[in-house]
Amino acid sequence: MDLLAFIRALPKAELHLHLEGSLEPELMFELARRNGIALPYASVEETRAAYAFTDLQSFLNIYYAGAGVLIHERDFHDLAMAYFQRAKADGVVHAELFFDPQTHTARGIPFETVLAGLERAAQAARKELGVSSRLLLCFLRHLPEEDAFRTLEQAMPHLQRIHGVGLDSSELGQPPAKFQRVFARCRELGLHLVAHAGEEGPASYIKDALDLLKVQRIDHGVRALEDPALMERLARERIPLTVCPLSNIKLRVFPSMAQHNLKQLLDLGLCITINSDDPAYFGGYIGQNYLEIALALKLTRTELVTLARNSLLASFVTDAERAPWLAKLEAVANS
Ligand code: HPA
Ligand code: ZN
Repeated sequence: MDLLAFIRALPKAELHLHLEGSLEPELMFELARRNGIALPYASVEETRAAYAFTDLQSFLNIYYAGAGVLIHERDFHDLAMAYFQRAKADGVVHAELFFDPQTHTARGIPFETVLAGLERAAQAARKELGVSSRLLLCFLRHLPEEDAFRTLEQAMPHLQRIHGVGLDSSELGQPPAKFQRVFARCRELGLHLVAHAGEEGPASYIKDALDLLKVQRIDHGVRALEDPALMERLARERIPLTVCPLSNIKLRVFPSMAQHNLKQLLDLGLCITINSDDPAYFGGYIGQNYLEIALALKLTRTELVTLARNSLLASFVTDAERAPWLAKLEAVANS
C-alpha cells in the first residue's frame, strides 16, 4: 500500500477543525451568488492566490471576511456537509468540530440558524457517511469576556447539541486569564473544555489554559517545547495536543515542514494528534497533513499509527464508541 493509501486506511479522529475554515473558494463563490453578496475577488483562482499569509492575524482577517457569505441555515449545512465528505475520504471516523458563533451573530445571523444547519449536516453525516461528530463552540478571544458570556446565554437552550467549548482567534495579548470566569461557568455546566494556546503565544499560555481554564486538551501547543517543566507535565498527565502541521507552515509558526517539532514532541512522550485546522485556507485536509509531515520528518508507519491512535484516545466519546475504531486501527496496523 502506498503511504497516502495507508494514511487514509487508518481510522482517525479530527479534533481541531474550524468549520468556517473548511469553506472552499468554490463554495464561497456559490454562496455569494446565492445570497447576492459581492466578494473582493474576481475568481476562485484569485481568491486562492490571496491566501498568502504572514502570521495568524493576516489569516484571520481573510477568514472572517470569507465567513460573510454564510447567511441561511442551508449555507451552514452545505459548509459542514462538504467537510464531512472530505473527512470521510481521508478515513476520519469521528470529528470534533469548532464553530465561531460570534462571527455570525455579530452580522445579525441568529445563533439558532448556525446551529440548526451544522446539526442537520452532522446527522446526515452520521447516517449517510457513517462519520460521527460533536460540536464545540469557540469563543473569540479578541472580544471581551462579556461577549463570550452573552454567547453562552444564547447557547443555553441548545446544550444537548453542544459538547464543549474552545477559545480561538488572535492569541498574542489575549491570555487565557481573560476567560477564566466564562470557562468556570462552562465547566459547571458539564461542557468539555479546550483552548488554543502556544501557537503564536508563549508556553505560559499553555500552562494558564490548564491551570486557570482547566482545559482537557490544548489546541496547537507546539511552543510547549520551550518549557521543559511543562513538557514533563504534558507527558505525565497525557494532555493531548491537537497539532496542525500545514497551518503551522502557512502561518509561519515554523519556517518549513522539515523544521516542525512534531517528532520531538512525540519522542518526548506527549499525546500528539494531527489535524487540519482550516483546510480550505491552508492547502489540505487531514490526510494531506499526515502525508506532508510524515514525508518531511520521515515518520514511520508505526508512528503514524500512534498518531491516529492518540486521536481516538483523545476524543470526547464513550469507551463503547471508541472500541470498534481502535480495533479496526490495530487491524490496519497489523495488516
Ligand atoms: N488559531 C486561532 N484562531 C483560529 C485558528 C487558529 O489556528 N483557526 C481559526 N481560528
Ligand atoms: Zn485552530
